[in-house]
Amino acid sequence: MTLKLTSGAKLVAATHNPGKAREIAALLEGRFQVIAAGELGLPEPEEIEQTFVGNAVLKARKAADASGLPALADDSGLSVRALDGQPGIYSARWAGPTKDFAIAMAKVEERLEESHSDDRSAFFTCALALAWPDGPVVAVEGRVEGSLTFPGRGERGFGYDPIFTPEGHSITFGEMDPTAKDAMSHRARAFEKLKAALFD
Ligand code: IMP
Repeated sequence: MTLKLTSGAKLVAATHNPGKAREIAALLEGRFQVIAAGELGLPEPEEIEQTFVGNAVLKARKAADASGLPALADDSGLSVRALDGQPGIYSARWAGPTKDFAIAMAKVEERLEESHSDDRSAFFTCALALAWPDGPVVAVEGRVEGSLTFPGRGERGFGYDPIFTPEGHSITFGEMDPTAKDAMSHRARAFEKLKAALFD
């Protein structure tokens, strides 16, 4: 079996977030017919694995097997070295049920103070997994290194962007032009790897 995807093929984006499905379609350069798992009425699996790749594989596998189509899933988050990698796979969950990232960022700052560490290094990870129905799965991971900045700055991004300054830069992801962020982000790097692995 070939692990290449033909242009125009149907691909399920294993997400219930329509915005994410559109982003996936764009990052794949419009080469595929991307259908969101939510649109197909597929159940949203619980993310029970302990790694980004593990959760991406779990979501892709379930969506591929349930739909009979190749499925792509992602899992991403912020890992802080002084906090032993937290929030990591719990990045979304630290924002609580209201998905308030002011709460999540305040929690990071508080935990860092409690740690008494001077280490402000952190990285974003994006894992991507593409699973074929009842078949193999390809998983890749992209990372961007940086350091944490408090108080956060900038309104242009989402999630933890205001407190993350990428290595070699003096502005946060929250202040950065979205095109500049997209050129260097963990997500862009993961998609580059996936495209290298899958495109003809
Ligand atoms: P996921 O949707 O389960 O992968 O959760 C990822 C969480 O990690 C998001 O809710 C964001 O809080 C955080 N995250 C991932 N990528 C970024 C980014 O590029 N900027 C800021 N936060 C991010």
